[in-house]
Amino acid sequence: MFGKKKTNSSIDKDQLELIENAQKRVRQKKRLYIHFVIFLIGAVFLILANTVLGIGENFKIAGIDWFVYAIILWLFLFIYHFVNVFITNKFMGKDWEKQQLDKLVSQQEQRIEKLKQKFTKEETEIAKSEVYNQGKLKENSSEKKKPSELTIIVAAGESNAIGKDNDLIWHLSDDLKRFKSLTNGHHIIMGRKTFESFPKPLPNRTHIVITRQTNYNVPDGVIVVNNLEDALDAAKKDSQPFIIGGGEIYRQSMDFADKLEITRVHSTFEEADTFFQPIDKTKWVEVSRKTHDADDNHEYSFSFITYLRK
Ligand SMILES: NC(=O)c1ccc[n+]([C@@H]2O[C@H](COP(=O)([O-])OP(=O)(O)OC[C@H]3O[C@@H](n4cnc5c(N)ncnc54)[C@H](OP(=O)(O)O)[C@@H]3O)[C@@H](O)[C@H]2O)c1
Repeated sequence: MFGKKKTNSSIDKDQLELIENAQKRVRQKKRLYIHFVIFLIGAVFLILANTVLGIGENFKIAGIDWFVYAIILWLFLFIYHFVNVFITNKFMGKDWEKQQLDKLVSQQEQRIEKLKQKFTKEETEIAKSEVYNQGKLKENSSEKKKPSELTIIVAAGESNAIGKDNDLIWHLSDDLKRFKSLTNGHHIIMGRKTFESFPKPLPNRTHIVITRQTNYNVPDGVIVVNNLEDALDAAKKDSQPFIIGGGEIYRQSMDFADKLEITRVHSTFEEADTFFQPIDKTKWVEVSRKTHDADDNHEYSFSFITYLRK
């Protein structure tokens, strides 16, 4: 516990080598400097030895004192030493330079390899998150974009009579109440004739009137379209748009509907001039039925029947 703490060198092998080489380099320069100083002192000594002490006074080569040759020779040696240290750098060695270069190259290669691995990892993560996000997007869109349930709502007699002279044949207040509560707040799609059978637009519903006329005038807020496709498009944001008649529009929209809300009036109406088409039981399944008896306010008994497309 109180033992001497072992010192771990924080300098790695490469750094140590660099320091050693730097020290070596300093020593090389130091030696060159000492050489220079010795050379200067030596040169002065040679001159003095010859001129003052008279050593080799009479020894001349081609009329020039011997010490001049000695100093020139030494100067060459010093220049050679200088060139080695500063120009060819021979003392550090070309091999050493090559080693350093190789080391640098291998370090860079290692870094590139690491970057590549990091990049591949990131790419994988991004790809995974994109797949995840796409999945989420699909989930969300399927959650939010619940397909709208196009519903036909109609009151029809036993023989499918629905109207006469552009009007209804019966007055059943509870059926009208049901119509009102089911369609309240929704888009109601109708043919021009049915629209004209109303004294005024019904409150709290968006009316979409289909006509072939190009300049058909309607009150503010009523949408006019020239075909059924445009009518369905205008109502596409509604979770449950309703087709409310009359005969022509029911016929054209039957194949697009998801649900039928039928009020079956239990009587036959021979005088009718407009009819609903028979319900094809191979395509539709009855899912609910509620019967309403005839009473003081209701001349005929009737049943609310809901069908869903099979
Ligand atoms: N019992 C019920 O539940 C119920 C419900 C609704 C209506 N009704 C009755 O049904 C009768 C009306 O029905 P209806 O068949 O005579 O008329 P409708 O279907 O209400 O309207 C027909 C009109 O719609 C337009 N139209 C139809 N198809 C079109 C298309 N593909 N492209 C553009 N415009 C098109 C035309 O208008 P333009 O002529 O202006 O071009 C056509 O004359 C009335 O008696 C009404 O009381 C009964």
